[in-house]
Amino acid sequence: MTKQQELSTKHLLGIKYITASDINLIFDTAINFKEVINRPIKKVPSLRDVTIANLFFENSTRTKLSFELAEKRLSADVVNFSSSSSSVKKGETLLDTVNNILSMKVDMVVMRHPAPGAHFFLSNHIDANIINAGDGTHEHPTQALLDAFSMKERLGSLNNKNILIVGDIMHSRVALSNIFCLQKLGAKVKVCGPPTLIPKNLPSLGVEVEYDVNKALQWCDVANVLRIQLERQEIKYIPTLREYSQYYGISKQMLDSLDKEIVLMHPGPINRGVELSSDAADSHHSIILDQVENGVAIRMAVLYLLAAKRGVNKSEN
Ligand code: NCD
Repeated sequence: MTKQQELSTKHLLGIKYITASDINLIFDTAINFKEVINRPIKKVPSLRDVTIANLFFENSTRTKLSFELAEKRLSADVVNFSSSSSSVKKGETLLDTVNNILSMKVDMVVMRHPAPGAHFFLSNHIDANIINAGDGTHEHPTQALLDAFSMKERLGSLNNKNILIVGDIMHSRVALSNIFCLQKLGAKVKVCGPPTLIPKNLPSLGVEVEYDVNKALQWCDVANVLRIQLERQEIKYIPTLREYSQYYGISKQMLDSLDKEIVLMHPGPINRGVELSSDAADSHHSIILDQVENGVAIRMAVLYLLAAKRGVNKSEN
């Protein structure tokens, strides 16, 4: 069988809409880019003729920096937009904002938006490649790709591996994208968290639920720990963060007392002392900073492969 050379889609709207072969192609490409960003000269000219707009309608530190760095490492021209300082505050629609930006001849749009599905809406209206950098509580595909890539670096194949996602599953786009991505790669996925933060439809996605965090840690090869998304909770789903931490917080002592190796992950930002104790986050179990490094390589791979769909020169990496 010949190896897949290009992505099956023009946009990255969600992991749900790409195939396992797409994911493996992104990983193979990211391995090359990880080598590039560890060289003394970290830049390649692959996207020299491409202009990318980063449109952030929601707060972001890591994801925004990571995309911008990935774009600059590929020599793209980059423009940044953040809704807090824009005409959106004056009542402009999403389509008008984006059309104005595209009139400036932008080829690719990386967007974070609070409305689930905002990226689909745009993809029906504009010609640029669209990359979802997080749409509300829906998907965050590049985070799931970098998470799975980081797991693979540690475990080799993810086939039949036990992956646990702990925390606010209901409001987390990282959880949903991770579930889709890990299942496509053959892993078994379990979630753990307070019943009020576990969506009722999870069994229909083939995901098991474990409410006892110690049992869940015993079961898994990797624990991907998520933040409580307080900014998305219009009612109180848990009594207090202190109580959450008592029942679902993970400490180094809990990890050390397991009679096996475990890999600890977190997409950031960490609320130290809530979902993770500081000593767990900084322990030898943790690969949290590897995730951040891999994020740049993964985003370079996604941008490069989507630009190739536009016929942009892809000879030199
Ligand atoms: C995540 C996000 O924004 O969904 N963070 C990130 O992208 N690094 C998770 C979070 O906000 O908790």
